[in-house]
Amino acid sequence: MFVEEVTKWYEINSRELPWRNTSDAYIIWLSEIILQQTRVEQGMPYFYKFKERFVTVNDFAQASEDEVLKLWQGLGYYSRARNMHATAKSVMTDHNGVFPTDYYQLLKLKGIGEYTAAAISSFSSNAPHAVVDGNVYRLLSRYFGISTPIDSTKGKKQFKELAYDLLKEAVPRVYNQAVMEFGAIQCKPANPNCENCPLQINCVAYIQQTISSLPVKSKK
Ligand code: ADE
Repeated sequence: MFVEEVTKWYEINSRELPWRNTSDAYIIWLSEIILQQTRVEQGMPYFYKFKERFVTVNDFAQASEDEVLKLWQGLGYYSRARNMHATAKSVMTDHNGVFPTDYYQLLKLKGIGEYTAAAISSFSSNAPHAVVDGNVYRLLSRYFGISTPIDSTKGKKQFKELAYDLLKEAVPRVYNQAVMEFGAIQCKPANPNCENCPLQINCVAYIQQTISSLPVKSKK
């Protein structure tokens, strides 16, 4: 029900985004790192800039750190750029220049955590790893009425297990994009579009009128 509705909604409502038409792990990696702490509109010009200047991961690895940081200027969190440079170099030395698509190989690379490894492995090779980002926490906590704090150990485990369970019924490549997109443009933090939402009839938070208090965070 949940997976079906979210996927159907995505097919009708998704934005055309340039990194969605590719299964090239290198290109997906560029987009995911840029979007880690950056909104889509702000990240888009940087995505194009990096993709044009560094057509291959080898081009990226060969660049000077100065050049990489200069291209990154304006995005903030410069450790992302430094980690990217280190990762491009390890792909050349440890992976024969072929960007990995395996979740566990990806986790070993600098700047790639569980979220990014799940995104790259699922978008590039349909690997069954669930993305759990802020959008997903919000959507799942509301729809299933889960008030466990999302920043607690218990909460992280609970949401991750739920996300992986749901993924079993889905096509990972499509569904992972769909849940994030649903969270970003339908089930928004403030003023979510509940009046026109395909999940409304089964959404626990909507029924119990707890939308504005979910998700719960324990830390300030
Ligand atoms: N934010 C992070 N990854 C994204 C993606 N693949 N599409 C849209 N927004 C994102």
